[in-house]
Amino acid sequence: MCGICGVVGLRHASPIVFDGLRRLEYRGYDSAGIATLVDGKIDRRRAAGKLDNLGALLETSPLPGTTGIGHTRWATHGAPTTCNAHPHGTERVAIVHNGIIENFEALRRELEAAGQVFQTETDSETIAQLVDYHLAQGLAPKDAALKALQRLEGAYAIAMIFAEHEGLMIGACHSAPLAVGYGDNEMFLGSDSLALAPLTRRISYMEDGDCVVLTPVGVEFMTFDGTPVRRAEQTTALAAGAIGKDGYRHYMEKELHEHPLVIGQTLQRMIDPANRKVVLPDMPFDLATVPRAVITACGSAFYAGMVGRYWLESIARLPVDIDVASELRYRDPPLAHGSLGLLISQSGETADTLAALRTLRQNAVHILSVLNVEHSTMARESALVLGTVAGPEISVASTKAFTAQLTVLACLTIAIARARGTLDPLGEEELVAALLDLPSRAADVFAQGDAIRRMARVVAEARDVLYLGRGSMFPVALEGALKLKEISYIHAEAYAAGEMKHGPISLIDRTVPIVASAPFTPLFDKTLSNLQEAKARGGRLLVFTDTKGAERVSAIAEEMVVLPHVHDFAAPILQTIPVQMLAYEVAVMKGTDVDQPRNLAKSVTVE
Ligand code: G6P
Repeated sequence: MCGICGVVGLRHASPIVFDGLRRLEYRGYDSAGIATLVDGKIDRRRAAGKLDNLGALLETSPLPGTTGIGHTRWATHGAPTTCNAHPHGTERVAIVHNGIIENFEALRRELEAAGQVFQTETDSETIAQLVDYHLAQGLAPKDAALKALQRLEGAYAIAMIFAEHEGLMIGACHSAPLAVGYGDNEMFLGSDSLALAPLTRRISYMEDGDCVVLTPVGVEFMTFDGTPVRRAEQTTALAAGAIGKDGYRHYMEKELHEHPLVIGQTLQRMIDPANRKVVLPDMPFDLATVPRAVITACGSAFYAGMVGRYWLESIARLPVDIDVASELRYRDPPLAHGSLGLLISQSGETADTLAALRTLRQNAVHILSVLNVEHSTMARESALVLGTVAGPEISVASTKAFTAQLTVLACLTIAIARARGTLDPLGEEELVAALLDLPSRAADVFAQGDAIRRMARVVAEARDVLYLGRGSMFPVALEGALKLKEISYIHAEAYAAGEMKHGPISLIDRTVPIVASAPFTPLFDKTLSNLQEAKARGGRLLVFTDTKGAERVSAIAEEMVVLPHVHDFAAPILQTIPVQMLAYEVAVMKGTDVDQPRNLAKSVTVE
């Protein structure tokens, strides 16, 4: 959460930093700010609310200077006001911070007793006051920063600049990502390579416990005790062009339209089309002998994991436990030695998923992570990473990363089933063919735009919506309900269709539309019976089905979206797309902030 960007160089810093913040706004958008050095003195501009507010302020009150840091905030400690907006600082130092300083109260008491005067309610200001205290004792910036870093507990990525020290920026991180970008006579810091993409493709990813001292022509990495370390320079594949809206109204719309491409790219990495076989990288453990799998994730990624459970159990006959990461990390479950820990995350930075990963690793569980951001903390801490080749996902609500996660989990299921002897070569060919069919079937979904918008008009009028699905369509229903809540602020609940009669059936009337995912799978008849029960009680049915199911659904549905019929195995991947599109269309009709819904952030790096 929160995005950081900084530059030391020869050019005007604030426009560069502002552009970087624009690309980081997905990490938080409660307030934003920039500080630069102007004639050796720290000057800053900060504004509550979206980044545009800061942009307007910079128009009327520009910020010169060639050394600058900026921040876009997702509030944890202290309301999202201008006063609490970063950069925080004193006359000597300004800092921006992503994360939480867990011992900030104790540090604040100590610093106040020593005469430091705080101006905000934030945990982050403690960092600035601590560095300031050491500067006031006569330490040079690097030594003051290192002394301060040794006292901080929690998770943090920090960038700092110092009065009277033009061309100096210090960065540090612990359990939060920070990247260094190399330019010509300028150096950058950014929360991720996306922020730096148009500025440079030469990047070093900092590791936990790293501090970096940057000047326009120099970089010096060290640990918090000052011991020099080397961090490799890498070339990022990210192109600046990958992060525009390309004529779409919102990033979410653009990303929805990328489903076919992303599924295709992800399959390309994992499938040998000539032999119709899944080909995974060399495994650091034996898939044939893992006794069980433990799947964990947060948000949409968790629902992808739920689909993975259906597949792994039914196709690979592998016992699976699954829980959201925020529960798993504290549950202390008994874990079978040598189990497979399957972590799923778009960002690779979600705090709870990362903590669950560490818990599993400590219990001798093999860690296999399904990640979109290849240079993330989770990637570094996993025995194996299977990449979802989704490209940058900017919209806060996940779309294409979800179907890419499902695509990876489908291939992994095939590989595990083959290793465990539950899938013969013909069976594998059949499932691989079903997956290879997906990119073009996914492209067909967009022809259903009008039908989806008709459904959206019904949903947009409702205050509550019930989503239903059975088997692997149940997580699809959960994903649909989550997406609707997130971006349109309509209350939605998803139920396993068979469970409806144990409670939610009492909610059914004309004002509570029922959105069902009911393609023609072996559970189609069962789902249809549940829909009949709802219809008999006056429910308005909006049904996602396929060409084989349509005839029977049309008799009871008020609105219907008919997709191509695909193999049962591939159905949850295809059926996810229109469910996400429905949420998008409803949000557009309601006029909400689709890409940046209130109170949310894309990368939740706090507990
Ligand atoms: C946030 C996002 C969701 C995402 C979840 C998990 O809540 O808004 O879209 O599914 O985090 O994120 P991850 O990066 O771990 O997949």
